Amino acid sequence: MRIGVLGTGIVGQTIGGKLVALGHEVKMGSRSATHEKALAWVAEAGARASLGTFADAAAFGELVFNCTSGRGSQDALAAAAAQLDGKVLIDTTNPLDFSNGFPPTLFTGGTDSLGEQAQRLLPSCRVVKALSHITASVMVDPGSVNCGDHDALICGNDAQAKAQVSGLLQEWLGWRRVRDLGDISSARGIECYVALWIRLMGQVGSPTFNIKVVS
Ligand SMILES: NC(=O)c1ccc[n+]([C@@H]2O[C@H](COP(=O)([O-])OP(=O)(O)OC[C@H]3O[C@@H](n4cnc5c(N)ncnc54)[C@H](OP(=O)(O)O)[C@@H]3O)[C@@H](O)[C@H]2O)c1
Repeated sequence: MRIGVLGTGIVGQTIGGKLVALGHEVKMGSRSATHEKALAWVAEAGARASLGTFADAAAFGELVFNCTSGRGSQDALAAAAAQLDGKVLIDTTNPLDFSNGFPPTLFTGGTDSLGEQAQRLLPSCRVVKALSHITASVMVDPGSVNCGDHDALICGNDAQAKAQVSGLLQEWLGWRRVRDLGDISSARGIECYVALWIRLMGQVGSPTFNIKVVS
């Protein structure tokens, strides 16, 4: 499959690298078509990897991942809005505000979310919130958390898009438990969890962990 990855950070590089390794073609998008980190990633990832602007990557992808910073997400998506029309967008972003130091606060305030903002900005795009509550390495290797099955949380307004994302999380990335939390407003809950995730990381002493929902 042809996949667009918006963002050149660790999440974009990790997801892009895994998908290339699985045999997919991946175009990494950023604000510049000659982004230094994207160039380095392409050189390492090989022939199935390429780079371009946000719009180039969105146009290339049959499926698109949003791996931009929370603060930059709306601008990045706006730059690719026409190319995202009708597509499934997997949104991995968190609304982290580091302006007052660490730990960061959430600039969406609990009454909105980046997932909802993306869906409002792109009404004909099918936004699925996914993977944002998991550190990048675990996103593509759930088996690195040594506790058996644990949960990947998703939400979105389009049932077909969520079924597709759930399937690819399982088939491509190895997730065995995908929990659908409902419509895109559940992104508020998923994104707010990052405030707890940060405290847990301090207590666990590593980002390599996840939640396992038991009842
Ligand atoms: N790190 C993790 O393990 C992890 C885990 C779960 C979720 N997340 C979330 O995943 C997203 C990506 O995280 P990351 O650590 O890989 O990267 P990041 O450093 O948060 O963001 C990287 C990308 O955002 C772009 N960006 C920044 N400001 C922008 C703006 N104003 N307009 C357009 N683009 C802008 C950057 O472009 P430039 O290179 O041009 O500056 C870069 O491509 C974040 O929302 C993060 O909260 C991260």
